[in-house]
Amino acid sequence: MFEKRFARQLTSQRQAGLYRNPPQITRREGRYVFFGDRKVLNFSSNDYLSLSTSRQLRRSLARNVMKYGASSSSSRLVSANYSLIGRAEREYARYFGYEDAVFFPSGYQTNYGVLSTLFQPKDRIVFDKHIHASSVKGIRASGADFYGYRHGSMDHLKKRLETLGPDQAAVVTESLFSMDGDLLDVGACCELKKRFGFFCIIDEAHAFGAIGEKGRGIARPAADAAVGTFGKALGLFGAFILLPGYLKEYLLNFASPLIYTTSLPPAHAATAMDLLEMIEQADDRRQQLFDAGRLMKESLVREGFSVQGDAHILALQVGPEDRAVEVSRRLMENGIFAFPARFPTVPLNRAILRIGLCAEHTEQDVNFFVETLKRVYGEIEKSG
Ligand SMILES: Cc1ncc(COP(=O)(O)O)c(C=O)c1O
Repeated sequence: MFEKRFARQLTSQRQAGLYRNPPQITRREGRYVFFGDRKVLNFSSNDYLSLSTSRQLRRSLARNVMKYGASSSSSRLVSANYSLIGRAEREYARYFGYEDAVFFPSGYQTNYGVLSTLFQPKDRIVFDKHIHASSVKGIRASGADFYGYRHGSMDHLKKRLETLGPDQAAVVTESLFSMDGDLLDVGACCELKKRFGFFCIIDEAHAFGAIGEKGRGIARPAADAAVGTFGKALGLFGAFILLPGYLKEYLLNFASPLIYTTSLPPAHAATAMDLLEMIEQADDRRQQLFDAGRLMKESLVREGFSVQGDAHILALQVGPEDRAVEVSRRLMENGIFAFPARFPTVPLNRAILRIGLCAEHTEQDVNFFVETLKRVYGEIEKSG
């Protein structure tokens, strides 16, 4: 009965150049991915510090799984409220400078669960229009009134807040934007917070571990609560929210996406604590990441490409969806994996090549990328 509708929708997805068919990866090692036996330089990963395949982190996780087992085997609210998880949450709160923390199975669940639980009809949420899909879904599910402001524009945020008047509002943004690669103006956000007194939730998924002093991100001065994920610079899986203590109690009581799901295993909590040490000691990796990002941006700009991004995520503006797919396909033929981000991840007709750098990318890798991209663009132009 539904089959015809599904087939029809897939066909129009194909016709619009939006069909998703990710290539099958056999394994990943540092900055390389393997497609069968083919080794390809990876610019599509969020493993910014190159930790996830490091010996140190593999050993920690393996040791902790041997010690504590593979699963928590229950929801946190039934029989998985392990003291180890509580301890790890307190350590994360301390490291990042918040009162407490709650671990979630994923960043998607964190944003969805937190926003849909904390807010309710008649509340007002003001949000940057480029926040992650999980936050948008959470805001919608809360039933609150919501108002988008132009991406990155603190002036537009101010106008929104002025229009809304004195009643309490919440502001939701990211610190390092996942697709645009640009940074929140934290100073301006703090100024607005002082003036309007809103509750501010900032997603630091792409910042924690990778930027800020000792990887602590950049948004603490403006944030009441901040979301982090283990699956990016921290090289693991799962996620967390850093928050005032009273909100932890609230989430544990009311957040369905936390109550009705198997919690992360205690082996994860033990590894997460080891990770804090690794993150603290990762200044060299952060410097390498910063250098790779800067070199990539400077080289692309010098070659006349239109590129955006302030750190280790760069958005190469391509435009038409099919062109972005074609650029990515030709790069892959030449040994480079760079992801074409298309609608609805980015606006329609404004497809990008999302370039994610990692600490292991060398100057040679960056030069290889830029030279190959130039050649690919030349070929595409020639073929009309
Ligand atoms: C800004 C942002 N928040 C949250 C998430 C979701 O995190 P996770 O992959 O842990 O579900 C992502 C991941 O794509 C993201 O880019």
